[in-house]
Amino acid sequence: MAETKDIEFLRGLTLALLAWYEKHRRAFPWREEPTPYRIWVSEIMLQQTRIEAALPYFDRFMAALPTVSTLADVEEERLMKLWEGLGYYSRARNLQKAAKTIVADYGGELPASYEKLLSLPGIGEYTAGAIASMAYGLPVPAVDGNVLRVCARLLDDEGDITRAPVKKRLREAVYAMLPPDRPGDFNQAVMELGETVCLPNTVPLCSECPIRGGCRSRQAGHPERLPVRAEKKARRVEKRTVLIVIAGGRVLLHRREDKGLLAGMWELPSVPSWIPPEETDAVAATWGARPTETVAVGDGKHVFSHIEWQMQGVLLYTRPFSPPEGFLWADARRLREETALPSAFRCYSSRLAQWMQGETWSGQ
Ligand code: ADE
Repeated sequence: MAETKDIEFLRGLTLALLAWYEKHRRAFPWREEPTPYRIWVSEIMLQQTRIEAALPYFDRFMAALPTVSTLADVEEERLMKLWEGLGYYSRARNLQKAAKTIVADYGGELPASYEKLLSLPGIGEYTAGAIASMAYGLPVPAVDGNVLRVCARLLDDEGDITRAPVKKRLREAVYAMLPPDRPGDFNQAVMELGETVCLPNTVPLCSECPIRGGCRSRQAGHPERLPVRAEKKARRVEKRTVLIVIAGGRVLLHRREDKGLLAGMWELPSVPSWIPPEETDAVAATWGARPTETVAVGDGKHVFSHIEWQMQGVLLYTRPFSPPEGFLWADARRLREETALPSAFRCYSSRLAQWMQGETWSGQ
């Protein structure tokens, strides 16, 4: 529990923060038209994506799926296509699962209850707090990484913010500051401050901060040292050989397993090690390919949250064959309009159209 003197001190900062937000808030589409559905979708997109990167996706998503029930009913392939490039596709799958529940159990309206929101797939404490406060005016904190940083600096809390007790006491501090009449604005004000002023991994822009007078880490002369965060475990490195198999202007895609990384997504087929280009024909032959030309097309890298793929690409032109189960041929139109290919393959997919037209590799 935050101490009483902390609570009084924090409450004094709330009005200054709200006044600052009124002046500096950025006009995002989910703020200009803050329906529960739009707030929900935006919060899910923003979980792992920068605001500027998410904006065009948000507009396209809302144009295609303007209501909870359109999201509940959309075909999976179309949903994945709308999400293509945002990554962490389980977010989109959970959105749809939750949409089905909202239609079945709540008449198509997101429930105006923190606990009910929390019980929906893909909605954790932060997102439930964000929707409850921003869409329904319920007095609940929404504590993301930005808010933890602002609070840790404000209170000069040197606890490790990856630890549950530290998160809990910082959440309580936010709760103490939360104005019951404007919880949504307040939560967004703290996020906005974290995103534009109280910046991470650098010296923050304290001279622009509306609550700098009360900031204890600034008084202590070291806001940039906070928050303290335990070192993350090093990412596991996986070496992969990616086979870009092309026949008659179409590329061979493989559907990943339903569980784990990129679950259920279409991918360029690959094997989990580096093999020399002369051995890739034999691998492709196990799928039915009879390659006529094989070209190494260079290295690629993709970093997921826990894994790093270090890839070698090999382009194989083959005579057409019927693909085994779990594979399909995609032509350029299908790739463009229907099938989502994860960004992990961007190092190769950016050149796919050229390769599919039959041009061989012309150097990097
Ligand atoms: N990050 C996530 N949600 C946000 C919001 N509503 N405003 C500002 N930053 C955010």
